[in-house]
Amino acid sequence: MKKKIDARKNLRRIILNLHQYTAGRSIQEIAVKYKIDPKKILKVGSNENVLGSSQKALKAAKNALDRVNIYPQVASDDLANKLKKIYKLKHVDVFAGNGMDHIFEMLARLFLNNGDETIICPPTFSCYELATLWSGAKPIFVPLLKPDYQLDVKNILKKINKKTKIIFLCSPNNPTGNSMKLRDIKAILESTDKIVFLDEAYTEFGNRPLARWVDKYPNLVIGRTFSKIYGLAGLRIGYAFMHKSLGTYYKNSITPFVVSTVAQAAAISALDDKEFLNKTRKMVKLGKKYYYKELKKAGIKFLSSNANFIAINTAPLKGKSVTDKLMQKGIITRECSAFGKGGENLVRITIGTKEQNKRVMKELKDIFV
Ligand SMILES: Cc1ncc(COP(=O)(O)O)c(C=O)c1O
Repeated sequence: MKKKIDARKNLRRIILNLHQYTAGRSIQEIAVKYKIDPKKILKVGSNENVLGSSQKALKAAKNALDRVNIYPQVASDDLANKLKKIYKLKHVDVFAGNGMDHIFEMLARLFLNNGDETIICPPTFSCYELATLWSGAKPIFVPLLKPDYQLDVKNILKKINKKTKIIFLCSPNNPTGNSMKLRDIKAILESTDKIVFLDEAYTEFGNRPLARWVDKYPNLVIGRTFSKIYGLAGLRIGYAFMHKSLGTYYKNSITPFVVSTVAQAAAISALDDKEFLNKTRKMVKLGKKYYYKELKKAGIKFLSSNANFIAINTAPLKGKSVTDKLMQKGIITRECSAFGKGGENLVRITIGTKEQNKRVMKELKDIFV
């Protein structure tokens, strides 16, 4: 007879209260739900690169398939060295991960104990909260200040106490799209020795990258990804910049071989494909210009963005009712209630090609008339 086991008995207590990460909807899911031909579905909900991937990166990935019988470099050294050279970094280590999501896991591994606290500024990317909860730590929320969604520096500093371990910042912020003021980031770094994690997933769309700041601020850790402008979301590769004084410990805690040979090769080549990067930037810039003009004309409120997406304010409608209507028309966008307080009335739309943007705009006008 099979022995009955209560699965819950063996789990860590904090795991019992977790809920699954809310990912953007997939084409397959929507095709089945609304009986739409998958080819007619437009996915502009996850800020992927609608132009695809760098051809140089894909070629390198294909070539790397010849070597997959061999383990990859244990800590992606070639990629790390290349990034150090690009950003002219002296006292900074670079570590690649299985997407930036893996970097969050590493932050939890390195810094968070049961009962610790992190500071998170909603509405923002939900993985900071997840990483906190995985560790049995407690997220302390300091909402971004409206109407510009900038950091509430005074309150962030007020919330720092003995239990605080990480302050999560995101610039440009997901889902609001704005960059945080450099003087605010600096003020936080200069007022505390706690870890300040700066998520720069969208920095290539217009921000000044702050990698060199790590030399000056050893408590600054910066996260980057190949999932957005480089168009490699499916390969899962991201990385972190951190001061060498932390890097030693990161190295000792690393999950060995966490980034595949194929992903490492693609990322190294993607960095060189300036043509693809410029083409993407140009499309995003023109797309945003189009949206700003058309949204203004249609009387739909929106937030200016430094990223490859734009957030519209759907109030008094709930964001979810707008994304549901768009989905019935075969358009996947993202409602932002999972991004914390202030996200309920935001819908995030990835900037697409001219035709794609027109299609989205047409449906938005129908919803908001
Ligand atoms: C702000 C932000 N950080 C991190 C990530 C995750 O990046 P990755 O795909 O490298 O795990 C995303 C993905 O949407 C993001 O928007």
